[in-house]
Amino acid sequence: MKLGSVRFVFRISLIVLFSTAALMSQDTAHLSIDASKPGAKIDRNLFGQFAENLGHGLYEGIWVGPDSPIPNTRGIRDDVVAALRPLKVPNVRWPGGCFADEYHWRKGIGPAAQRPATLNNSWGGVVDTNSFGTDEFMDFIHQIGSEAYVSANVGSGTPQEAAEWLEYMTAAQPTALAKERAANGHPDAYRVGFLGIGNESWDCGGNMSPDYYLSQLKIYSRFVENDNPSQQGPNHMLKIAVGPGVPETEWTETIMKAWQHHSWSWDFDGLSVHWYTVANGWDTKTASLGFGIEDYAKVLKSTLFMDEFLRKQETVMDRYDPQKKIALVVDEWGAWHAALPGTNPSFLVQQNSLRDAILASLNLNIFARHAGRVRMANIAQMINVLQSMILTDKEKMVLTPTYYVFKMYVPFQDATFIPVDFDPGTLHRDGITLPHVDAIAAKEASGKLWVEITNLDPDKPVEIDAEIAGMMVKTVKAETLTASAVDSVNSFAAPHNVVPKPVSASVKSGRLALTVEPKSVTVISLEP
Ligand code: AHR
Repeated sequence: MKLGSVRFVFRISLIVLFSTAALMSQDTAHLSIDASKPGAKIDRNLFGQFAENLGHGLYEGIWVGPDSPIPNTRGIRDDVVAALRPLKVPNVRWPGGCFADEYHWRKGIGPAAQRPATLNNSWGGVVDTNSFGTDEFMDFIHQIGSEAYVSANVGSGTPQEAAEWLEYMTAAQPTALAKERAANGHPDAYRVGFLGIGNESWDCGGNMSPDYYLSQLKIYSRFVENDNPSQQGPNHMLKIAVGPGVPETEWTETIMKAWQHHSWSWDFDGLSVHWYTVANGWDTKTASLGFGIEDYAKVLKSTLFMDEFLRKQETVMDRYDPQKKIALVVDEWGAWHAALPGTNPSFLVQQNSLRDAILASLNLNIFARHAGRVRMANIAQMINVLQSMILTDKEKMVLTPTYYVFKMYVPFQDATFIPVDFDPGTLHRDGITLPHVDAIAAKEASGKLWVEITNLDPDKPVEIDAEIAGMMVKTVKAETLTASAVDSVNSFAAPHNVVPKPVSASVKSGRLALTVEPKSVTVISLEP
């Protein structure tokens, strides 16, 4: 693979930069962070996940059934639950995706033996036993300590079906549906934190026009209620309307314009957008394994478009909602690579490399910078599908590089964004120009400051010189995620190729100093 030349210019002079080859390996990024200048809250829901009934995402990934030799609790894999708990997953979106608009919830409740077998027409036409239904999903949510984000079927369902589903899940009073839930073993009303009103209604969700969808949104948001007494008033369930999956803003314009003067009878709290990194186009997707620097650069370049994508939608939302009442919800994002050879192409199976970890950090940083409006996001997907956290094969399980990024970012959940002033520099690879570094910072309620630095350079480390104002730092700790190659992965045979490791960092006279390795994600904690 041909490497392009590196031209890395931070705030150092060109004469110094080009004087010797040795100095190139000593490139320095200067950052300036003022911990006394708080920005928006980085909502923990930005770290949400997505578990669609697709391929082995639910079946085998989460659900093995109570009779499985794989250790489980009420049919849910113990190893997967143990791995997910430390991520503090704030919410899980289920049952789809495209599948949501063909799902009829009644087929997935009651005694397992009596549930009908159906076809999963969205994803390969495979037989669905329906043994993972509403009660199993809620059990999973409870086991991992998360919140339910349920997508209602607008495409092939009815408002009444959706309203009854919500009543089944959330009614505390002794209605027939609440009694049915109790008879199924769950007397207490469930919490449903978020309700998606349809999914991609402009395509797999029913190919609707913006106006047609708007009419559906008004009906569903009026009649689909959460009855849980603990979710009334300020703790109410957030209703999320379908937004676009393209940068163009016609759909957003239609929905937001109508919302601006909406009557009491309909409303929503978030607008969902979907934006995947499909670097080579849908017909010639990038490989998730065995790629080189050119593909690395291409994918990262493509993923950075997320910033512009969000800006375009925000501009329209700001026009109709300057107070930012409606959240922008990126409830499908991540790398969509080619399906691994030998797998069912409808199951969207891909490996997950160091490149995906860097891609995840770049997107999480973009979300953090847009935190005033972007208050929820769901990576696609959680297990065995697209850019997942976890891969399983029968009793085996492996944690992906993306998993470790989400783990390293846990302290950013609900922390306050702190602006970082820096010049990202430029990196040239195979005709592609990328920023050399990326960085965000956030402050915890305890006063601890967290800084994340991504070094996109596949070859060279970067010296970090960060001025920290607004706090006296006593203790500093750092950990880095990197590996020998951009396409390094964790496999069942070698599960620890890409895992975080501690690195040294110091603070002297208010300046943080450390070296970030090539192609790495580094999180630093600074304690007062
Ligand atoms: O995540 C896979 C699919 O991508 C989802 O089902 C759909 O909403 C999107 O097109």
